[in-house]
Amino acid sequence: MTSPFGTIVSSNITPDRQFGIGAYSYADFARALREGIAPGNKRLYPAMPYVSFSKVPDGDMRALYAYMMNGVQPVAKPAPPTHVPFPFNQRWALAFWDLVFAPSGQFQPRFDHDAQWNRGAYLVQSLGHCGSCHTPRGAGYQERGYDDSSSNYLAGGVNDNWYAPNLRGDTGSGLGRGSQDELAAFLKTGHGAGIAVFGSMVETVEGSLQYLSNDDLHAIARYLKTLPATGAADGQYKPSPQSGTVEKTRAPDKPSATGAAVYASFCAQCHQANGTGIPQTFPKLAGNQAVISEDTTSLIRLLVEGGNSPATANGPPRQAMPAFSGILTDGQIAEVLTFIRGSWGNDARPVTTSNVASLRSKLHK
Ligand code: HEC
Ligand code: HEC
Repeated sequence: MTSPFGTIVSSNITPDRQFGIGAYSYADFARALREGIAPGNKRLYPAMPYVSFSKVPDGDMRALYAYMMNGVQPVAKPAPPTHVPFPFNQRWALAFWDLVFAPSGQFQPRFDHDAQWNRGAYLVQSLGHCGSCHTPRGAGYQERGYDDSSSNYLAGGVNDNWYAPNLRGDTGSGLGRGSQDELAAFLKTGHGAGIAVFGSMVETVEGSLQYLSNDDLHAIARYLKTLPATGAADGQYKPSPQSGTVEKTRAPDKPSATGAAVYASFCAQCHQANGTGIPQTFPKLAGNQAVISEDTTSLIRLLVEGGNSPATANGPPRQAMPAFSGILTDGQIAEVLTFIRGSWGNDARPVTTSNVASLRSKLHK
C-alpha cells in the first residue's frame, strides 16, 4: 500500500518458519499485533493497524494465534522488500512515533451503554480497524481519534489513494439516512439501498465482513448509528418535489453540455438516464452518499481504473465498472463527475480538470 512514508509491502503472515511467523511464540505474536514490534525489536510501520489491535483482549488474541498457527497453510516465499526513502527507512525512529501517537490499553466497556453497543464499539475500534481507512489522518499519519470520544473518529479519510467516507450521522454523505437494519444487511454483502461498495471497501466486505454473524453485524450497525453528525461541509441530496425546482447551493447552476453528453454516451446504459441504476446490479448515482462527498479522490480513481462490485456468498454476482483512463480525457472525467454531482437532486461541489490530473499523476495512470 502507498503511504506518506513510501510504498509499504505487507509481510508474509502464514506460519512458515523461515519466511512467515511460524517461529513466533504467543508473546511475540501479541506484541507485534498490539505494539507493532516484531521479534528482533523490528518496528512495524503504522500502516499495520497495531494501535487498533492494542484493544484486543487475551481471549481473542489467543484464538487468533491458534488460528494463524494451525488453520492457515504455510507459504515458503519471502514478501518483496519494502522500499521507503530516508529518513523513513530508519525503523528505529518509529519508536518516537509510538511514544507520541500510540495510545495503548485494551478495550474498556462503557457502563452507560448496553452489551450490544459495547460489542459493536469493540469490533469497530479493534479488529475491524474501520478507522485506519475512515478516520482522517494528521500530519504524523496518526488517526485523528481512535474511538468515539473524538469528533473526527470515522469522519472520512484518504488512505492509499481511496477516500473512505464519513460513517457518522450526517444525512448528506454520512450514514444518517438509512436504518440500523439496512446498514447491518449492507455490510454483509456490500450491496443495498441501490448502492454497492467499491475501491478498498470491496476487500473489506469480501475478506472480512461477509463472515461476521448477524449479531455482530447488528452490533456494528448499532454502534455506528450512535455516532453524532459532524456537520461536515459535504454535498447534500434534495430530491426534487413534484413541482418546482430545488435551489442548488454547491453544484453549478447550469450543468455543462459536455458532462451530460459524456454521461449519455458512456454511463447511462448501466446507471440509467435518471441516475437510478438497477438494484443489485448497477448502483444508483442519485442520492448516493459516495457521489456527493466533499472529497472526490475515490470517484476520480474509480473512473480512471474501473472496479468490481463485491461478490459474497449471500449477495448478487460481481459486476464490472469499466476503466475510462484511455477513453476519456481529464477534462471529460471532471465534467461527467460534475454532472453526476449536480443532477437528480445531488448538490455537491464541481470537480476540476486539475483535481483529475493531480490524482492521475499520483496513480501513474
Ligand atoms: C481498507 C480500507 C477500509 C477499511 C478497513 C474499511 N473501509 Fe469502509 N470504505 C472504504 C472505502 C474506500 C469506501 C468508499 C467506497 C464506497 O463507498 O464503497 C468505504 C465505504 C464504506 C461504507 C459505505 C459508505 C457510504 O456512505 O457509501 C460503509 C458503510 C463502510 N465503508 C463501513 C465500514 C466499516 C463498518 C468498517 C470496519 C468494520 C470499514 N468500513 C472498514 C475503505 C475501508
Ligand atoms: C458496464 C456498466 C457500467 C458503465 C458503462 C458505467 N458504470 Fe459506473 N458502476 C458500474 C458498476 C458495476 C459499479 C459498482 C462498482 C464497484 O462496486 O466496484 C459502478 C460504480 C460507479 C460509481 C460508484 C457508486 C457506487 O455506489 O458504487 C460511480 C460514481 C460510477 N459508477 C460512475 C460512472 C460514470 C460517471 C460512468 C460513465 C463515465 C460509469 N459509471 C459507467 C457499472 C458501470
